[in-house]
Amino acid sequence: MKWKVTLSDLNFDQHEQKIVSQVIQNKWLTMGEMVKKLERNFANFLGVKHAFAVSSGTAALHLSLRALNIKTEDEVLVPSLTFVASANAILYVGAKPVFVDITGLSDLNLSCDDLENKITPKTKAIMVVHYGGYLADMERIKKIAKKHNLFVIEDAAHAIGAKFKLKMAGGIGDIGCFSFFSNKNMATGEGGMVVTNRDKFAQKIRLLRSHGMTSMTWDRHKGHAYSYDVTELGYNYRMTEMNAALGIEQLKKLRSSNRKRKSLIKIYVENLEGTKGLSIPFLNYPRDSAFHLFPIILDQDVNREKFMDFLKRAKIQTSIHYPPIHKFSYYRKNFKESENHLPSTEYVGGHEVTLPLHPLLKKEDILFVCDKIKEILPQVRS
Ligand SMILES: Cc1ncc(COP(=O)(O)O)c(C=O)c1O
Repeated sequence: MKWKVTLSDLNFDQHEQKIVSQVIQNKWLTMGEMVKKLERNFANFLGVKHAFAVSSGTAALHLSLRALNIKTEDEVLVPSLTFVASANAILYVGAKPVFVDITGLSDLNLSCDDLENKITPKTKAIMVVHYGGYLADMERIKKIAKKHNLFVIEDAAHAIGAKFKLKMAGGIGDIGCFSFFSNKNMATGEGGMVVTNRDKFAQKIRLLRSHGMTSMTWDRHKGHAYSYDVTELGYNYRMTEMNAALGIEQLKKLRSSNRKRKSLIKIYVENLEGTKGLSIPFLNYPRDSAFHLFPIILDQDVNREKFMDFLKRAKIQTSIHYPPIHKFSYYRKNFKESENHLPSTEYVGGHEVTLPLHPLLKKEDILFVCDKIKEILPQVRS
């Protein structure tokens, strides 16, 4: 399918081409100078003490849970309206994801009231997801965490660059996790980052990222070490130099591309607000955003499949964020459905549509999408 308006796109130019060629010329392909530079730049950008480049956002989440020593019998609170990786990572360490509902149709981030209700003596951590880049209520979440002695992991996969007072998304909780998957605000194909201000967690993440080894191939290459010990059961979650090189260039563009995303959302809102048959979440949202997604929620009487199909025929690519995790077969098989009373999540899961949003879009593209939406909506209401 040749789309006229794609959901996301890569904001790449000759800078990305040049830096990747440089890696090939350097003949060092993993965990070298590029990775070190990306980690340094990312830590400075976020204002955090430690940043570790990893092979994916999922790896980042897994490492964060291992670093906090979350294990079997522990419970971790997480929204169900997120990408499945958030909950899968909790299962990787043998802990139980306890699903929290979202606040409502105008705020798709987790509900702090539901969060508090679901705390038990087994709860060890809260995994916050900043949906679509919109910061969750970190002030209240941190207060709840402090009161109940819980760790806070931020799944900031959507929220690179969103500000919270003097901090930034990912740098607010105990550990922050990022994804640089191809559709993210900063894209390296596959890749991610784990950040923390706590030395103890940093030390563990550094070890676990590379098999629990006490020295790296790079150190040995540079003559800093001859051998190594293995002190933890770790993984190969290392980032390649090509991915890191792309990340260095992408990070330089992040502020301006997030601004562009914001201005495109403004055009969407100006043209869609008040349209019969849909509502727009996060309007007048009180916190910052990285503007990763532009979600709309269709009214109950609108047939989503027909709506999306019409847009597809107009060559407009759309998506759903997200089919709720607790409804997936694997989760239904392994967890009691009766434990999951998540009415707002289920409504949004059944009625949300994500519209195209990326920094290469033009005003005409957005106006075209809005016109098509207004054309189809009266035809797909029952
Ligand atoms: C909210 C969220 N968490 C985690 C991930 C996992 O990241 P990755 O695909 O880099 O493993 C994603 C990315 O798709 C995501 O959107």
